[in-house]
Amino acid sequence: MRILFLGDVVGKSGCTSIKKNLKNIINQKNIDFVIVNGENAAEGGVGISEKISNELFSYGADVITTGNHVWDLKETAQYITRENKLLRPFNLPAATPGEGFGIYKVKNGLKIGVLNLMGNIFMKKCENVFESSVLFLKNNVLKKNFDFLVVDFHGEITSEKMAIGHFFDGKATLVVGTHTHVPTNDARILKNGTAYLTDAGMCGDYNSVIGMNKENSLNKFLKKDAVKHFPATGEASLCGLIVDANKKTGLADKIESFIFGGDLI
Ligand SMILES: [Fe+2]
Repeated sequence: MRILFLGDVVGKSGCTSIKKNLKNIINQKNIDFVIVNGENAAEGGVGISEKISNELFSYGADVITTGNHVWDLKETAQYITRENKLLRPFNLPAATPGEGFGIYKVKNGLKIGVLNLMGNIFMKKCENVFESSVLFLKNNVLKKNFDFLVVDFHGEITSEKMAIGHFFDGKATLVVGTHTHVPTNDARILKNGTAYLTDAGMCGDYNSVIGMNKENSLNKFLKKDAVKHFPATGEASLCGLIVDANKKTGLADKIESFIFGGDLI
């Protein structure tokens, strides 16, 4: 069972590359299930619409995760209640629309759970991610409730991500970080069998400042004339990882980082 995880899709650049390349990647790499973080996929680089979600599904995504930008477009709070393949962070307050966890069918009757968490440090206010994870694992056990479990941890700082990786070690197939838009070079299998990568990076134009137009971003830092951030429009690099999951144990046999096209190649 091969899972492809792609980091934050940014704007038109990211969506265009996914449209052009994802089906071929799925075929060439024998991918069984695709998860993308889509919280920056809207044309403006923040939020996700029903239209863009459906486009990403039609290009080959099976589940879309999100993070701090999930509600940046007004329509999403309503739309998410009708679409169980679009997740928002699990540890948002209880009355929040949508779900932060879903179980989905994959080939041969197997089931994959996808959990979307958000960090607490330098992020929007949400419930304590470690306490939420303790509660989650009480009712959600690998090889009992599902065959595989992928955790997208949307967070700013590396230490919090690594700690969540160790927390889920042996209890999830994969823990992968998102949000910083910069891929880290630490893909590995942890001691108890969980595949781990601190950050998947983004699917966007790297000739930019984390996907946004670089001149405008620089002007903001220099306190010169600048407008609201807007995405860079060059060719995207698709960044993430591929994990080979063992159907007997639900744990990882292999993880490799994945970078395709654009400036990062
Ligand atoms: Fe984010």
